[in-house]
Amino acid sequence: MSDRGTWGSRVGFVLAGAGSAVGLGNIWGFPTRVGENGGAAFVLVYLVCVIFICLPIMIAELAIGRRTQSDPVGAYAKLRPGTRWWMAGGLGVAAGFGVLSFYSVVAGWALAYIWFSASGAVSGDAVESATFFTDFTSHAPSSLFFTFVMLAATAGIILGGIRAGIERVSKLLMPVLAILLVVLAWHASTLPGAAEGLAYYLKPDFSKMMSFGALNAALGQAFFSLSLGLGTMLVYGSYLTKREGIAKSAIMVVALDTSLALLAGFVIFPSGFSIPGFDPTSTGPGLIFMVLPRLFATLPGGQFFGAAFFILLALAALTSAISLLEVPVAHFIDSHGWSRKRAVVIVTTATFALAVPSALAMGASSFFSDLPGIGMDFQSLMITVWNDFALPIGGLITAIFVGYVWRIDSALEELLAEQAWFPNPKLWGWMVRYACPLAIFVIIFMNIRSMIV
Ligand code: TRP
Repeated sequence: MSDRGTWGSRVGFVLAGAGSAVGLGNIWGFPTRVGENGGAAFVLVYLVCVIFICLPIMIAELAIGRRTQSDPVGAYAKLRPGTRWWMAGGLGVAAGFGVLSFYSVVAGWALAYIWFSASGAVSGDAVESATFFTDFTSHAPSSLFFTFVMLAATAGIILGGIRAGIERVSKLLMPVLAILLVVLAWHASTLPGAAEGLAYYLKPDFSKMMSFGALNAALGQAFFSLSLGLGTMLVYGSYLTKREGIAKSAIMVVALDTSLALLAGFVIFPSGFSIPGFDPTSTGPGLIFMVLPRLFATLPGGQFFGAAFFILLALAALTSAISLLEVPVAHFIDSHGWSRKRAVVIVTTATFALAVPSALAMGASSFFSDLPGIGMDFQSLMITVWNDFALPIGGLITAIFVGYVWRIDSALEELLAEQAWFPNPKLWGWMVRYACPLAIFVIIFMNIRSMIV
């Protein structure tokens, strides 16, 4: 336990929590998945998942974290010593590796696009910007290089003990990102085709029934964007003082994170539909990298705005990557007594090894770009396994643990400490015991069923 304080000086929870939550999930993941899954109906389902499933689970994760003050494995072991509950934390540690492995690849793209935008290398021509992205990501040395740089920066920050510093910088810069998004959304709404984009984003088409695959994607995306289900929030719960109040802090992080995701949609869809022949369902993970250069090209000072945007995005990705790396690192320090340096070096090396196939999955390696017998590329496989299954299952386990093992009463003791504001404890208990686990179970079960049949 003694090495804990050193892996980052303490910062306020909302600062660290929002730094973790706001990242590629909002700006890259959300628009991509809205595009792939048909638009506005997906947005609605996403919001329902955020409010009714994720918020109660975030509160549960934070309560465990503040009570136990340890890594996920240690936390479960502390609350139920001598049982196998520690394995629930083990899933989180594994998911930390898994999510970070593909996360660092996309973060590398954002990093590279700082240079591409500033130098004007990527043009505003719609066809060219799509080809540019494909050429860049299918070139193994460059995609590996940028992945490596992002991972090394993440490791360096945790190792150098400058985490708190980075989070403070990002606290100052995130409002700038939000303002920039508002400006971009404003400008995008004036482009030809914008109305069609907004309709795609905002007008649900209920005549098309949503598939269980899309429901599951919305659920996974909500967990991913809110940094839930693998113990990040559990670890960050130890930053919460009893005074701050868990419910209030959780609501603030959820509101901030969700507003930024929604805002990103207001930028991407109007811009996308201004491109003739644009089809949001077919661009995949390159969506924002293909659409944004076009948007910047229509703006006066576009090179400057483009570079500024990708700097802010890379920084947001970095503060999220830190929180991902921290879960396995905290585990090896807390539960295995490793030194911080050893934990960071070994965990980062292992993550890079798993990142390599994801970095090669966009055409650089034909094997990883279309896995035989699986019908998807390696990166999409990682997103499916970790985001769509591991994170919601992690959340399901958290809910069951708090609802039936640690029990609602003990959790409420933590949640209501020092007369903290906590609206409707009964409803929260009911959600954690019944509604959340049932909803997650049904969505995942039905999706698996639909994949098999
Ligand atoms: N939420 C971050 C994003 O939106 C990514 C992230 C950080 C994350 N920590 C996490 C995702 C823990 C899942 C679990 O970019």
